[in-house]
Amino acid sequence: MLEKIIDSTTQVKRYNWKQTLLYFVESLGYKPIAKNNSQGENGFMNKLIHQGIEELVPYPPGKPIEELERELGIKGSIKLASNENPLGPSPKALEAIRARLSTLHRYPDGSGYYLKEKLSQKLGVNPEQLILGNGSNEIIELSVRTFLLPGEEALQAFPTFLVYEKVVKAAGGTMISVPLQDLSVNLERVLESLTEKVKIIFLCNPNNPTGSAFTLDQLQWFMDQVPKNVLVLVDEAYIEFSTIPGQHTAEPPIKSALGLVNRNENLLVLRTFSKLYGLAGLRIGYGIGPSTLVDYMNRVRQPFNANTLAQAAATAALDDDEFVAQTLSLTREGLSFLKGELDKMGLEHFPTRANFFLIKTPIGGRETYERMLRKGVIVRSMESFGLPEFIRISVGLPNENQRFIQALREVLGL
Ligand SMILES: Cc1ncc(COP(=O)(O)O)c(C=O)c1O
Repeated sequence: MLEKIIDSTTQVKRYNWKQTLLYFVESLGYKPIAKNNSQGENGFMNKLIHQGIEELVPYPPGKPIEELERELGIKGSIKLASNENPLGPSPKALEAIRARLSTLHRYPDGSGYYLKEKLSQKLGVNPEQLILGNGSNEIIELSVRTFLLPGEEALQAFPTFLVYEKVVKAAGGTMISVPLQDLSVNLERVLESLTEKVKIIFLCNPNNPTGSAFTLDQLQWFMDQVPKNVLVLVDEAYIEFSTIPGQHTAEPPIKSALGLVNRNENLLVLRTFSKLYGLAGLRIGYGIGPSTLVDYMNRVRQPFNANTLAQAAATAALDDDEFVAQTLSLTREGLSFLKGELDKMGLEHFPTRANFFLIKTPIGGRETYERMLRKGVIVRSMESFGLPEFIRISVGLPNENQRFIQALREVLGL
């Protein structure tokens, strides 16, 4: 099945060269480049930049608290914009970081031995089925760099996490976006849009930014229809929030796609330590897939992509059951509080299986975002996701949730 995905190692190599050069150009601050620039007097950028890069805009991250406070000269702001863990990092992870600080003159363990061992025990997979990344963002990028050649296509159900399209375009590929149906992924529609040229299908479950989720049975049905030479990447950055019983919704827990990995040679599941374990700033995530697939990705990755502190912290965090339970219960309570308040305000919001809410506001996403900023509350405008009427907010600490509701009431005059 990998014949179509991997054409030859030479091609992978040649492609990486180009990618590296393009990243270098980006890092020099040449992006985004106006059309006129690249066709200017020298036109030297014409040679360096392909159309995919030309069309890219930088990823719009949630505004950092420090930036807002610097700009407005205020203190005590709160950020509910990036679906982070409001409790802070796992205490066990912090302890492990402290213990490893004095080893920082050494390179990290390039194989990620201990973290993979721990993950393999916890998830019931072999260590060879695991690949570590500098955040799961890097695994997304690695899958594209390994399996997608310029001119080829990928599929996604949109609106979804913006990084998939960005990475595909940067690689000279084309992203086909299948519209969500009622803000949920419709796997039948995705299947209908499959062309011969498609190499990778990105499915985000639960989906960011809508919080909707498909079931394991639906995914198995989908996997049975998809040709084996098309890679299906299921991004489960938020899955832990939807697998717990007694969620804020009455729906049954969503089961992870992990259960299908050993039955499907073209399935790669992505997970992260950024959300549940509160380690977003450390950058550590992983992929689980068939060992053949993972082996190819390992050939492409940088040797020390998962740093020493990240590996140690993640390994320790996996044992931090108390922190996990605390996070899940805080999320459950926060979702329930927010849902109640949004209902009271009569604001349309979407049933979520993750740690965030998509909310429709009468004055539009951008205006709401800007007015909330002035009140020291950072939310996310959904314009860049193609949902201009919406904002997305992450569950915060109880006092942060209250403050958000209070500010939203003021801003909307409700
Ligand atoms: C759906 C989804 N996938 C992946 C990521 C990236 O996570 P990481 O911090 O592991 O790179 C995010 C981050 O917000 C996300 O929302």
